[in-house]
Parts: sequence; structure tokens; C-alpha cells
Amino acid sequence: MSNVLRKILVTCALPYANGSIHIGHMLEHIQADIWVRYQKMLGHEVWFVSADDAHGTAIMLKSEHLGISSTDLIKQVKKEHEKDFLNFKISYDNYHSTHSIENLHLLRKTFKILNEKGLIKQKKIFQFYDNIKKIFLPDRFIKGRCPLCRSENQYGDNCEICSATYEPIDLIDPISVISGEKPILKNTKHLYFDLPFFSHMLKKWIYSGVLEDSVIKKTEEWLKEGLKSWGISRDAPYFGFKIPKFPKKYFYVWLDAPLGYISTFKNLCYKNKKLNFDKLWNKKSNYELYHFIGKDIIYFHTLFWPSILEAVSLRKPNGIFVHGYVTMNGIKLSKSRNIKLIKARDWIKFFDSDSLRYYYATKLSNKISDIEINLEDFVQKINSDIVNKLVNLASRSAGFIEKYFNGYLSNELSDIELYKYFINKSFIIQNFLENREFHSVTRESMRLIDMANKYINEKQPWKIKITKKDNKLHEICTMGINLFRIVMVFLKPILPDLASKTESFLISNLTWKDIKKPLLCHKIKKFSPLYERINSKKINELIHLCN
Ligand code: MSP
Ligand code: ZN
Repeated sequence: MSNVLRKILVTCALPYANGSIHIGHMLEHIQADIWVRYQKMLGHEVWFVSADDAHGTAIMLKSEHLGISSTDLIKQVKKEHEKDFLNFKISYDNYHSTHSIENLHLLRKTFKILNEKGLIKQKKIFQFYDNIKKIFLPDRFIKGRCPLCRSENQYGDNCEICSATYEPIDLIDPISVISGEKPILKNTKHLYFDLPFFSHMLKKWIYSGVLEDSVIKKTEEWLKEGLKSWGISRDAPYFGFKIPKFPKKYFYVWLDAPLGYISTFKNLCYKNKKLNFDKLWNKKSNYELYHFIGKDIIYFHTLFWPSILEAVSLRKPNGIFVHGYVTMNGIKLSKSRNIKLIKARDWIKFFDSDSLRYYYATKLSNKISDIEINLEDFVQKINSDIVNKLVNLASRSAGFIEKYFNGYLSNELSDIELYKYFINKSFIIQNFLENREFHSVTRESMRLIDMANKYINEKQPWKIKITKKDNKLHEICTMGINLFRIVMVFLKPILPDLASKTESFLISNLTWKDIKKPLLCHKIKKFSPLYERINSKKINELIHLCN
């Protein structure tokens, strides 16, 4: 790997401020955080940001339901989200909100440019209206039968049974989700962004190495169908930013949400005076930009977002990293359907954060396939990999070091070749980390740990007769500690808590460059359990709490 220092901005999709972070969301933050921690370990300049997506009909309705103002709701939710991310050791440099002054300014500026470039058109349309609640209905607030396969209970934008996409007015027997009544069609005026104008640019850009093949394929399908101009306004009542000189109209949340990536960085620049906003966002920027997102929002990030950036002459991302959906017993976890979700804050009452981070890592790759959680499998995996294999290697070696050698490691290793073999694995592990093949990182790490444990088993240190100056026993145990140390460097981005306990135990930092040199003649601390076995009884308690 080259030694050139990189400058990188990493973002996660901005979670909606209308509900709690669940463990499905957490997948994305954990995935991005592992990647960020890895890049930071290499010494690169990395900025990691996200924000609450604070606008839209759902947030307005939720605050009404709770009898509080929308601004109070988003304040409360933001606090809760920030606490969740802290609990799971997500190392954000800034976590902001789209309901911010920076975002408002940026949105107005963006809209002005789009207008000046003739990219905004006005159209008169018919839209479903809830005559009882006096509100125009967004796609997700209308349900009916799918016009294609006739399945019941489908939303106004697409069918979850046959995957058809359509307009709300195509639905058979539509009803308003808010009042449960049949909506009426009402005339309204809206603003549209000329997305088709960017087709040519997009058809080139998607092949520039920014997308994985499966994501390219999806995007190609949309491009083949032909792009449509994109509605960027919504009628009052709405919670969002008002459109200048267009009474009772608001900007659609999906226009100001991605701008939140930029305005959150702008806000970070106020906090960190060394940062330069233009250096990152100008077209010739030498910063890399990566967005981590879920597969449900590909369209916005591969078509809409690059077009907006092109329109306002800002740089585009270097990569859009898409993950699949977390499923539990095969059920898709999503907010739109009323499936009981495990909230991040409930999860953390029963299990530590490293355990979920590790479990997700064993399943994460750079592909967009879904990720199935099985709680029995989770407990089994953590206890087997982290307790029985990884930590066991340290504890069995440390016992002797402490008892017979006063806590000092020997001045030589028992098997330098084996040590070199482990060190040589750094290259492929770094490759896996760089390419977000985290399942390979954990798999290869466990293979190495198995090797190390086998080595100790074969040497049977417990059978070696202890004499005061027995180098053999000393060197074997020192070997065990050093192999543990190497693998802990590999796993440090995944297991930040265990890594920090390990650093304190070894009285030495876990870094890539230092592991080339073994820890020798070095005092380590008295071993205290680095990780506690998790208990499968907690599964039932967790499920009980969530129901
Ligand atoms: N607010 C938008 C994103 C705007 S980005 C400019 C949004 N919010 S969300 O809260 O619904 O989702 C946030 C992220 O979490 C998305 O990337 C989404 O794919 C991801 N996930 C939501 N549920 C998920 C699972 N069950 N599993 C994995 N990821 C999931 O979309
Ligand atoms: Zn259908």
C-alpha cells in the first residue's frame, strides 16, 4: 500500500428525525465507522460526518401526534440519535441537522443557481388530497391495490410484492393513510428540476469507477427507462424550508437532505478553523468523497445528487458505497411497515457495542446483498470467536507471564517464521479493509487465531517444567501474546473497545507500523478479562422489551 497521505470526507445517509435509530440503521454507521477508523489508523486525514434529516411530512405528522412542535421533536430526536451513535462508538467528527442555518443558506443558493440556469420548470398537476385532514398526500401516505399485480395495501410509489413502480393516481381504490378515507384529486402547481438534462453526463459518470457493478446495473435500468423531471416542491402544510416567492410551497425534503452533506461539512469548518470549505467542494478538489447508503436510496445518490452537484459546479463523489438491508428471520426491517424493530438504545441495554460491530463485520462485504440477523447465531459467534478464540489466546499466555516472569515478555520469540507469517497477512487484511470486505477480515483473523491457539496447544506450555530460567516457556507465551497483538491490530477498527482494553493490557498502542517489531523485554499488565462472555438468556429479555 502506498504511503501517500489521503484526504477524505465520509458520510452516512442522514437518518430521518421521525423515529429512533434501530439496528438496521446501525449497520450503515458501523460499516462506515470501521472504514473510517481504518483510514485514520493509517494516518490519513479523514472527516466523518452525518446529520439528522429533519424535514418532511412524516416528521410534521409525528410531532402533531405527540402534541409538540416539529422543532422540539427534531431537537429531542437529534439528542437521542447522537447518544445512540456514541453508544456504538461511531466516531463522527460532526453530527448536524438539515434544519440548520448553513443548510438553509446553501439551499437558497443552490435554488438560485438552478433557476438562473433554467433548470427549474413549473407544472400544474393533479394530486391526491385528504379532504378531512386538509393536506396533500405524499406517495407514502396513500395506500391501495397495486395497478399491476393487484396486491392490497401497497404504497403510492411502488409495490413491495411485484416491485412495480407507478404514480399514486394509478393505485386501485386509494385511501389516505392519515384519515383512512378516500382522497380526492386536487389541482396544484409544482416546481420540477430538469433531471433529463443530465442524462448524458450521468451515462458517462456511472462508469467512472464510483459504483459497484450491481449498483451500475440498477442505475442503468433507470437511465434506460428515461429520466423524468423531478418534483422539488411540496404544498403546505409541510415541515421544511419555504420556497422564496412561491407562497405556501416548501422545498421537498429530498432536495435539502443531500445538501446536508455539504452544510454539515460547512458547520464543521466553523468548529475547526484549519478546514477549508472550498478546498473540499471545488471541482478540482484533492479530497476524496464517499457516501455510505442503503440500497433503497440509490436513485437519489446515483442520479439526482450528481446532477445537482454538476448544476451548481461542485465536485462529485469518488464512491457511493451501497449496503443491503438488515433482515431478521427474513423480514425486512423498515420504518414504513409496522414490524417490531430492535432500537439501538434497547440493544445496548443487553449487549455491548463491540459484539454488534463484530457480528455485522462477519457479514459485511462490498455487495448489496441483505444481511440476516439471527440472535442465537449472534451469541454463539461472539462467544466462540471473541471469547473462546481471540481473548483466550491472550489469557492463557498472560497467565504464565504473570506467574513466572513477573509480567515481563521474553527477549526472543519462540518462532520467528510464524511471526513473519502473521505480519505478511497485513497486506491482504489491509486490502480487505480498504475494499470493505469486512467478512474476510474477520474470517482471516479467526483463521490466524486458530493457528496461534493450535501452536500453543502443540507446545503444551502447561507441561513444561518450570525452572527459574526456563526460556522455552517464556518464549512460547511471549509468542502467544505477540500473535494476539497482531490480530488485534487487524481487528482494531471493528472492535474499538476491546482494542483499547488490549492497549492498556499490553501497555502499548496497536498500530500497523509497530507490529512489524514484536513486543519483547516489555512489561505487560496483570491480565484481567478483556471481554465478558455474552449470555443467550439476554435474547429473551431483549425480545421481551421490544414487544
Ligand atoms: N433521510 C433519508 C436519507 C437522506 S440522505 C441524504 C433516509 N433516512 S432513513 O432513516 O430512512 O434511512 C437512513 C439510512 O438507513 C439509509 O441509508 C437506509 O438505507 C438505511 N436503513 C434503514 N433501514 C435499514 C435496514 N433495515 N437495514 C439496513 N439499512 C437500513 O433514507
Ligand atoms: Zn404489484
